[in-house]
Amino acid sequence: MSAVVDSNIFRNNRLKAGLDPDHIPQHIAVIMDGNGRWAKQQGFMTRVRGHEVGVEALRKITTAAAELGLGFLTVYAFSTENWNRPKAEVDALMNILMTALEKELPTLMNNNVRLKAIGNVDSLPEKANKKLMSVITATSKNDGLTLTLALSYGSQDEMVQAVRKIATEVANGALAPEDISEAHIENSLFTAGMPSPDLMIRTSGEQRISNYLLWQLAYAELYFTPILWPDFDAQGLYDAIAAFQKRERRFGQTSEQLTDK
Ligand code: IPE
Ligand code: IPE
Ligand code: MG
Repeated sequence: MSAVVDSNIFRNNRLKAGLDPDHIPQHIAVIMDGNGRWAKQQGFMTRVRGHEVGVEALRKITTAAAELGLGFLTVYAFSTENWNRPKAEVDALMNILMTALEKELPTLMNNNVRLKAIGNVDSLPEKANKKLMSVITATSKNDGLTLTLALSYGSQDEMVQAVRKIATEVANGALAPEDISEAHIENSLFTAGMPSPDLMIRTSGEQRISNYLLWQLAYAELYFTPILWPDFDAQGLYDAIAAFQKRERRFGQTSEQLTDK
């Protein structure tokens, strides 16, 4: 499909969603929270069913984001702190990850989505890590939406690793301390090469960042919704983007400076 046809389709989809087609965030970050509470609310015996239905919600949101022509969608799937959950839940989550990677490849291909991962993916079970790498490779030529899974991800840990990298360069004499710049730090994070998120959505009513993209969210608009992740759908995404479109992003300037331009 030509880029022109593509952009007309995206424009129509944005209008259909009730959005300003010229003011779509380039990068949305999501904290997919509330799976456990959803399972409890539905009367399931374990939290696992919430995680399973959570995968379906992610499929819906990824498809909706691809249809809007969004550039980047980065989702928090498993934090460094989540390793501290009961072993049965961690094991179930790793199995769900494996199954989802196996099952979702056709959807990713159909929607021209490129999969990426950030975090300590080496600490995932070997089979899951291998499957992840194979889907990343299989989708690497897709040039639509980039879907990034934050897996075994923690922002403070990411910063520690970045500092180590930079400190090594300094110790080797390749870099002078006074030459360390914001760009250096950015390029040493897992998200190197990605634009910063414009909008961060957290579901389930919690209003915290939980060690997610602390550097990258510096100027993101934050959107919190009480909807539990398994219930989050395309309309939820459109509502979040509509709320984003009403915000004024000032980046330290005054409102007058922005409107006088
Ligand atoms: C988010 O849902 C998924 C992960 C953290 C893996 P939770 O499992 O945190 O669900 P709640 O917050 O307990 O409802
Ligand atoms: C954050 O959710 C991590 C993911 C969504 C993967 P948590 O449910 O683990 O966050 P806290 O511990 O309640 O802050
Ligand atoms: Mg939670």
